[in-house]
Amino acid sequence: MNWLRPTERPDSPAGLAYGGDYNPEQWDPAVWTEDVRLMREAGVTLVTVGVFSWAQLQPEPDRWEFDWLDRVMDLLADGGIAVDLATATASVPNWLAAQDPSVLAVDRHGSRVAQGGRQAWSPSSRTYRRHSIELVERMAERYGDHPALALWHVSNELGGHNSRCYGDESARAFRIWVRERYADSLDALNRAWGTAVWSQRYRSWEEIEPPRATFTGPNPSLELDFARFSSDQLRDQLRAERAVLRARTPDVPITTNFIMFDAGKNMAYSTWIDDVDVVASDHYLGEGRDAFAETDFSADRSRGLAAGAPWMLMETAPNGTSWRRINPSKRRGQLRRDALSHVARGADAVCFFQWRAARSGAERFHSAMLPHAGVDSDVFRDVVALGADLRSISPVAGSRVRPDAALVLDEASWWAFEGGDHPRNDLRLMDAALPWHRVLTELGLTIDVVPPSADLAPYRLVVAPQLYLVSDEHADRLSAAAHAGAVVVIGAFSGVVDELDRVRPGGFAGAFHELLGIRVEDVWPVRDDESFRVAGDGWSGTARTWAEVVRLDGAVAVAIATDGDLQGMPVATRRSVSAGAAWYVSAWLDDAGLRGVLIRAAAEAGATAPVRDDQRLRVTTRAAGDTEYHFLINHSESAASVRGDGTDLLDGSTHTERIVVPGGAVRVIEGRLTRARIEAPSA
Ligand code: GLA
Repeated sequence: MNWLRPTERPDSPAGLAYGGDYNPEQWDPAVWTEDVRLMREAGVTLVTVGVFSWAQLQPEPDRWEFDWLDRVMDLLADGGIAVDLATATASVPNWLAAQDPSVLAVDRHGSRVAQGGRQAWSPSSRTYRRHSIELVERMAERYGDHPALALWHVSNELGGHNSRCYGDESARAFRIWVRERYADSLDALNRAWGTAVWSQRYRSWEEIEPPRATFTGPNPSLELDFARFSSDQLRDQLRAERAVLRARTPDVPITTNFIMFDAGKNMAYSTWIDDVDVVASDHYLGEGRDAFAETDFSADRSRGLAAGAPWMLMETAPNGTSWRRINPSKRRGQLRRDALSHVARGADAVCFFQWRAARSGAERFHSAMLPHAGVDSDVFRDVVALGADLRSISPVAGSRVRPDAALVLDEASWWAFEGGDHPRNDLRLMDAALPWHRVLTELGLTIDVVPPSADLAPYRLVVAPQLYLVSDEHADRLSAAAHAGAVVVIGAFSGVVDELDRVRPGGFAGAFHELLGIRVEDVWPVRDDESFRVAGDGWSGTARTWAEVVRLDGAVAVAIATDGDLQGMPVATRRSVSAGAAWYVSAWLDDAGLRGVLIRAAAEAGATAPVRDDQRLRVTTRAAGDTEYHFLINHSESAASVRGDGTDLLDGSTHTERIVVPGGAVRVIEGRLTRARIEAPSA
C-alpha cells in the first residue's frame, strides 16, 4: 500500500499496518526510547502522533516548540516505525480559548461550552480556522520531508463532540449556506421548509436562526438542513487542512478518522469521501448491542464508504473502554478475533487507542496496548501475538473483499428518522439496520453497507432496512437496481418523506408505491407490551414495535399477520419487476421472522454462501486476482468447520475438504471454499 510507505526494516510487513495512537507528550523523554523498543517487539509499524498536542507545539501565541516532536519523529524513523502524523488541530490550547472565546462552540440553549475537555471549538469559528491553518502550515513545513511521515491525519474524529454549534457565528454561516442552497430565493426556502405551519414564515434572511432550544420541537426541515450545514462545516475544515497538506506534500496521503456508530451519525461521511485518500474508521464496542454483529457492521460500512477499497481501522480498544456504564474487558482470544474481523472485512491496518496507558487525564482507565501493568500482562502478550499474526497474513494486503449483497444506509435519513416527531419516537435506525445485517451475515453473506449514491449494479441482492427519507433520485436508483435484475428488499416506514422531511402524498412509503406494488394506508405503532404473530409459506415469526396497514396494489403477500388487530394484513410483500423483484417488510420482525423473509429474498437473488456447520463461524473472502484468502473467525466456544481446501497463513497447517476451526480460533486460509446456493427450507 502506498499510504503505508513500508520502512526499511526487514521484518516490517509489506502491507498490513499495525499500531495505535501514540502520545509521547504525556511522558518523559526517557520513556520514548523504551516505547520504540517495545513497539518493535510488538511488531508495530505505524503510530498516530500528535493528535492532542497543539498546546505543546504552540505553548504561547508567538512561541513554537517543535524540538520535542523532532526527537520523537527521529526516534520513530530510526526504529523503522512509520508515522500517521496528526495536524494537531483537534483541541485548542487554553490561551486561544481565553484570548478569543468565540472559538468555543455554543450549545442549543445558548451556553458556550467550556474549555477543559477536548474538541470544544466551533466548526464555524473564523478565529479557530485561522489559527488551526497556521498550525497545519507549520506542521507541513516542518515534517513534510521527514522520513517517518507516512500519512497525514487531519484533526481527529471531526465532529465527535462538536458536531453542532448554535452560536451567532454559526448562525451567520448557516444563513450563507441556506441562501446558496435556495438560490437566493426566500420563496423557495419558505416552500422547502413548509413555513406556513406555526407562523414560521421568513421575511428576510436575517430572521433565520439555527434550531436553538424551543418549547416545542423545531421545524424538522430546518433541523435537517442545519444538520447538513453542520456536516458541511466540518468537511470545510477537513478541506482547508487538506489543501495546505496537499500543496506542501503532494505525495503524502491524507486521511481523517470516521466514527461508524454513536457520535459518528451526525456526519454525512458519504459526502466526505473525495476528501480523504484512504478511509479510516474508529470502532468501539457498544453497550447493550451485539458486539460481533456491530463489529461486522462497522467494518462493512467502512468498506462500503471506501467503495470496496482497503481501509484502515484507525482506532479500537485493545481491552475495555472507560466511558460506558460498564466497560467490560475482552474475553480470551477476543482481541485477536475482533482485530482480524476488521481485516477479514477489508482493513489493511489495525490500530488501537492507544499505545501506552495514560497515567493521568480523562482516559487513564482506558485500555492500551501497553497497559499500566506493563509488559508482563495478557494484554501485551496478546498485542505481541497479534503483531506476529498480521505479519503472517501480510499477503492479504491490497486484496479486496468479495461482497454478496448491499445494505443501503443514508445519513440524512438517519437524522430525519431519529429527529422530529413521529408515530413512535423511540425508534433508532441501528435497531432496524443491525438485525437485518446480522441475519444476512448469519446466512453466510458478506454485506457492503453503502450510501444510496453508491453503484448498485454489482449486487444481486440489495436491502434497505430503514430508508424513511429518500430523494426521488435515490428512490430511482433502487428501482433501477430491481429493473436491472436485483432483488431489492425495503424495510418498514421507508420512502415516507422527501429530502426535506416533507411527507410524500398518497400513503406512506410513497416513494416506493410503484416499485413495491403496495400502498401503506396507515402506520400501526405497536405498544411495548404487545406483539403479533406473522407467517409466510413454511415459516413464522413475531412482530413487535412497528407495523403498518398495507394494501396490495400489484404485489403479492408473502407473509401475513396471523393474530391481533392486523390479522390477515400483509407484513411482507413481493412484486416482480422486469428482471428483478421488489420486496417490502412492513413490520419490525424478530430473528425468526426476518430470517424467514431474508432467506427467501436471498434465494431468489441466487445468493451463495460457504458451507458451514455453525453460523457463529464468520466467513469472508478477500481476493487478489485468482488468489483467495478466506477468513474463518469462530465466535463459538466449540469447533466449527467449513468445506474447502487450503493452507492457513496463521499456523501453516494444510486442510483438505473440511477446514476445522477450534472454538474461539481464527484461520486465514489461502485456498478455495465450497459455496452452495442459499435455499429456503421447504415447508
Ligand atoms: C476516540 C478518540 C481517542 C480516544 C478514544 C478512546 O476514538 O479519537 O482520542 O479518546 O476515543 O476513548
